[in-house]
Amino acid sequence: DMPESITIWEVGARDGLQNESDIVDVGVKVEFIERLAEAGLTTIEATSFVHPKWVPQLADAAEVLAGLKPRDDVRYPVLVPNQRGLDRALESGVRHVAVFASATETFANRNLNSTLDEQFAMFEPVVERARSEGLDVRGYLSMCFGDPWEGAVDPAQVARVGARLIDMGCSQLSLGDTIGVATPGQVEELLRALAAVGVDVDALAVHFHDTYGQALSNTYAALRQGVRCVDASAGGLGGCPYAKSATGNLATEDLVWLLDGLGIAHGVDLDKLVDTSVWMSRQLGRPAPSRVVRALSGD
Ligand code: HMG
Ligand code: MG
Repeated sequence: DMPESITIWEVGARDGLQNESDIVDVGVKVEFIERLAEAGLTTIEATSFVHPKWVPQLADAAEVLAGLKPRDDVRYPVLVPNQRGLDRALESGVRHVAVFASATETFANRNLNSTLDEQFAMFEPVVERARSEGLDVRGYLSMCFGDPWEGAVDPAQVARVGARLIDMGCSQLSLGDTIGVATPGQVEELLRALAAVGVDVDALAVHFHDTYGQALSNTYAALRQGVRCVDASAGGLGGCPYAKSATGNLATEDLVWLLDGLGIAHGVDLDKLVDTSVWMSRQLGRPAPSRVVRALSGD
């Protein structure tokens, strides 16, 4: 059944900005995140504590977090791949972290310099220590539908790898269509495969990229199956520098328009969000990909 309300997990400042060719100023990042919070977003993924050579765009992670006004009603999760990343996150006072696994061998190698099994050996001590420090840990899973090197990905394999993240102690599993190739039938199939291995729908989030224009249809399919957390990026910023042909995430504004039409509560002020994306598009020097931003702003 369709949920009455959902959580929007805003990833623009992380998934969006990690893929920019030019490095965005710390001050611009901080203002972007502050504006997202003012627009009513309550989960704003702020940055990543990954290797600065791998993702130079987010090398300023500590400075960005230090610039944010503390807010009781907003959480600022960050990505951490390993113990070094967790050390850095803890030094910055982070309370919510996410590890990010791959459902395929090739992408585990390209994105994490590891094999599918090695990535778990890397995450296990991270998740254990994060939880013992009282942190909340999300588990991302990439290449859940298609992989640019391996082609179609078997839903049973994705479900198996996803269940390992939950078993390891992740409180939530975010299903990533990293390269935006999925269609709604595949989404339903994967959700069935996850239910079959005992992963509860309440523990799931969906993370669609809009490369082939399917992100919103896929989200609708997931909502109909009861998923209550949806990842999106303001304006539709985004992509992964280590995945060929990955473009922007589902745009938060497009998601909000769909949710409003369906009567699903989300807590976001759409006008403020559109203003934020228009402001950000000026900082980046190009229009936001989001159709709703264009329709409402005339930009
Ligand atoms: P590696 O080179 O194998 O690392 O990279 P290593 O463990 O061999 O360490 C080498 C050196 O790096 C050491 O320094 C470490 O201390 C240092 P040295 O002793 O040589 O002086 N180091 C670090 N420094 C700072 N922070 C760290 C860190 N770790 C090691 N965290 C590693 C392995 C995992 C670090 C690397 O592959 C990496 O950083 N990968 C991240 C790639 C990434 O961020 N990708 C994008 C995010 S995933 C995504 O976008 C998908 C998603 O949106 C969902 C979807 O769409 O599907 C989430
Ligand atoms: Mg992504």
